Amino acid sequence: MEPILKGKHIVLGITGGIAAYKSVTLLRLLVKAGAEVQVVITPSGKEFITPVTLAALSGKPVVSEFFTANTGEWHSHVDLGLWADLMVIAPATASTIGKMANGIADNMLVTTYLSAKEHVMIAPAMDLDMMAHPSTVRNLATLESYGVEIIEPAAGELASHLIGKGRMEEPENIFTRIEKYFLRRCDLKGKKVAITAGPTYEKLDPVRFIGNYSSGKMGFALAEECASRGAEVTLICGPVSIAVSDPNIVRIDVESAEEMLAAARKPFTEADFGIFAAAVADYRPESMAEHKLKREGAEDMTLRLVRNPDIAATLAAEKRDSQVFVGFALETDNEHENALKKLRKKNLDMVVLNSLQDKGAGFGTDTNKVSILSKDGTEKSFPLKSKRAVATDIVNEICVTDI
Ligand code: CTP
Repeated sequence: MEPILKGKHIVLGITGGIAAYKSVTLLRLLVKAGAEVQVVITPSGKEFITPVTLAALSGKPVVSEFFTANTGEWHSHVDLGLWADLMVIAPATASTIGKMANGIADNMLVTTYLSAKEHVMIAPAMDLDMMAHPSTVRNLATLESYGVEIIEPAAGELASHLIGKGRMEEPENIFTRIEKYFLRRCDLKGKKVAITAGPTYEKLDPVRFIGNYSSGKMGFALAEECASRGAEVTLICGPVSIAVSDPNIVRIDVESAEEMLAAARKPFTEADFGIFAAAVADYRPESMAEHKLKREGAEDMTLRLVRNPDIAATLAAEKRDSQVFVGFALETDNEHENALKKLRKKNLDMVVLNSLQDKGAGFGTDTNKVSILSKDGTEKSFPLKSKRAVATDIVNEICVTDI
């Protein structure tokens, strides 16, 4: 699974505050995740951290002045603003925040900010009184109104030894915010997604069936999540009592596994992403009685069941390289091993494992707790969340796989 930051262009702005030393960790995290980072530092920033360290870690000369003094080389803030997929200023001092809010473009960093076409985040760091000063509060509100994302400082002991709000957020948390930003942006416009959901009912006679407790909620949440990102979604679902509201979702209702496979063939062949979230009955009665089975005379009864098609395995066997197919695995024991076996056997790219041992996970509930295993052997575990939030995590992973 490729990291979401791979190849992303990030301008890391560093200003003159003690917290500048933490920017080295942030820079390392970004570079390690595959981002291309251009450091822009203010003149006072250089008093706190040396450009040599930053250049060595980023693999690019640090930009600070409009010109390189000895060669006269011009650094174009306009080009940098266009190059950047994201600009992050960490730490952002009261002075830089004030200049940004008021368009005072007297250094390379603020001019780059004014030229930035994409998203800008700032991580303020200053003493608590400066942080609480009405001018800072007003400037931050102004920046927020311009669409700048403020990474709120934490409370704690400050460089002045005073205790209060003003400490720059930890680099690891800033890094997570950056990752989240790119994941949020990952839309599915122009992509086709096919999803199976819900249970299947296998008829015994006109009034009875073999089924299971699947509510379809996970599959529906995935359909809504994909549709909200602009995908064209086809949802092939067994008997469920939920409705879809998004007009980008085409719903096909089926009952049995055989019907589900027949209805799923075309959408899955055409899909960029396929998700098998249905709880398909593995067996069906060998035959369906045409009339209601009668109790009369029979003390006991033997039902003969035959194997249903494995929808995921059947459709994934014909998967093209460009397609990403995801299955679910509901396991009670040897979970990871069994989930990986399913991934390989069914030719899937990812398997979402939910363990019945986890409270709040699985059938009928509104929440789920999953681990996502990929065919490259990586695994990510997530905490208990609403099924909609789990759907966001799963779709994020699909987006990352697709990059
Ligand atoms: N699946 C399917 N068709 C089937 C059975 C399963 O498409 N007939 C899909 C499910 O939608 C899920 C994945 O395969 O994405 C794994 O389902 P699961 O029931 O956990 O696996 P099985 O292969 O049925 O294995 P077992 O029940 O023996 O654990």
